[in-house]
Amino acid sequence: MKREIIHALEKIVGKAHLATSTEECACYSFDGTGRSFMPEAVAFPDSPGQISGILRLANRYRFPVIPRGAGSGMTGGSLPVRGGLVLAMGRMNRIIEIDTANMIAVVEPGVITGELQARLARHRLKYPPDPASLKFCSLGGNVAECAGGPSAVKYGVTRDYVIGLEVVLPTGEIMRTGVRTEKGVVGYDLTRLFIGSEGTLGVFTRLVLRLVPLPAARETFLLTFSSLRSATTLVAAIFRTGLTPCTLEYMDATAIQVVRDRLDHPPPPRTQALLILEFDGSHAEVARQRQRLEEFLKGQDLTCRRAENDTEREELWQARRSISPATFALRPDKISEDVVVPRSRIPDLVEFTSSLAGRYGLTILTFGHAGDGNIHVNIMFDRRERQEQDRALAARKELFRQVVELGGTLSGEHGIGITKSAFLPMEVDPVALDLMQRIKHLFDPAGILNPGKIFSQFTADSKVSTPDASPSPRHLRIDRKYD
Ligand code: MLT
Ligand code: ZN
Repeated sequence: MKREIIHALEKIVGKAHLATSTEECACYSFDGTGRSFMPEAVAFPDSPGQISGILRLANRYRFPVIPRGAGSGMTGGSLPVRGGLVLAMGRMNRIIEIDTANMIAVVEPGVITGELQARLARHRLKYPPDPASLKFCSLGGNVAECAGGPSAVKYGVTRDYVIGLEVVLPTGEIMRTGVRTEKGVVGYDLTRLFIGSEGTLGVFTRLVLRLVPLPAARETFLLTFSSLRSATTLVAAIFRTGLTPCTLEYMDATAIQVVRDRLDHPPPPRTQALLILEFDGSHAEVARQRQRLEEFLKGQDLTCRRAENDTEREELWQARRSISPATFALRPDKISEDVVVPRSRIPDLVEFTSSLAGRYGLTILTFGHAGDGNIHVNIMFDRRERQEQDRALAARKELFRQVVELGGTLSGEHGIGITKSAFLPMEVDPVALDLMQRIKHLFDPAGILNPGKIFSQFTADSKVSTPDASPSPRHLRIDRKYD
């Protein structure tokens, strides 16, 4: 990056809040994908005005600007694939307001999701989206990717809780969208357009969040099965009975195996799958759901254990949240997907992944948010084994074809980023795809904000192409080439 740009950036954020050394830049070069691209500098802004100044400068000198929350993303949304400046939002981490009367919170994007939830609990309020990384991910990143989590099955995802935004546009203009009310239909819903736009349309500087009352009671059940199909078919049946769980998570035998040591009450050794089912609400409502569940489960071929207390429940959730990192005990690399299918098709999806694993000679595990059909498929491999990596890539392509065939979607919560962009045309209507790209151009005519994401990698004939990274001279790639 030119000296004059560095000087101008120092003027905007202050010398102490700009990093240019290789050591510091390396800390902002990777995310949850395990891939790494070196930025040329990292700025730590503290206000919308500073961000606006940076974006105006970027338009003048044409360098990429990449907004970054906590770097926990699973699809490369915050990776500087074309070099440039990373905008690390961690300093903008203030909880500005908790309006208990109207159940609204106003926060800056760098607030850690779990920290907001802990603060709200003191007011008996709840911000429901609960990605597995909630102890370290930040709300700005959650909004950029439209994060989900286990409780989405009852409460919905991030987009259901963001009612207003303050955003700095790629051109440097600062604007507000949305409302602070329960309803609002004035003009186009630009708030929704920004949510899930993966840092390509603007930089969030304030989030207005809708809250709900913290439920008074909660009960958690662990169902274990000696047959995989019995577990996966039970999911849709549970909803047909009228039960309304606030989470319904699924783990196959391999997912259980990787976290077994973390459980004080591990499932029986021959368990092929398990479901974690939770109800919340008033004490009476939870008791009613529990009774209904017990009636429903009578005669089914499974075991059911109720978490005795908060410690046991928390241990179960800790184990569930640690599946993703724990999988690296199986193989050093993975393709991590978050496909969604209609609930009734989960058994077909899971059977298909088992057949993929057999045909390609790979370890593939499935787990995740079965209640809303959002299944994490982790295809494990070792990138040092070239053929194994190729088999993993071929298996993923087949998986995506099958998901679309089953009436599903390629991503329920992780977004597209760089890891799935080659497959976008498999699902998205070509007219819609063209319109999306025109929207991006309208917002960001110079193409400076988070370039190389969502749209960059597919070819016109929909063939899978390799990442179009156009590296800068200082670009460093810790080679984990999955695509
Ligand atoms: C999860 O539900 O555990 C996360 O989304 C992470 C993952 O998919 O690996
Ligand atoms: Zn998940």
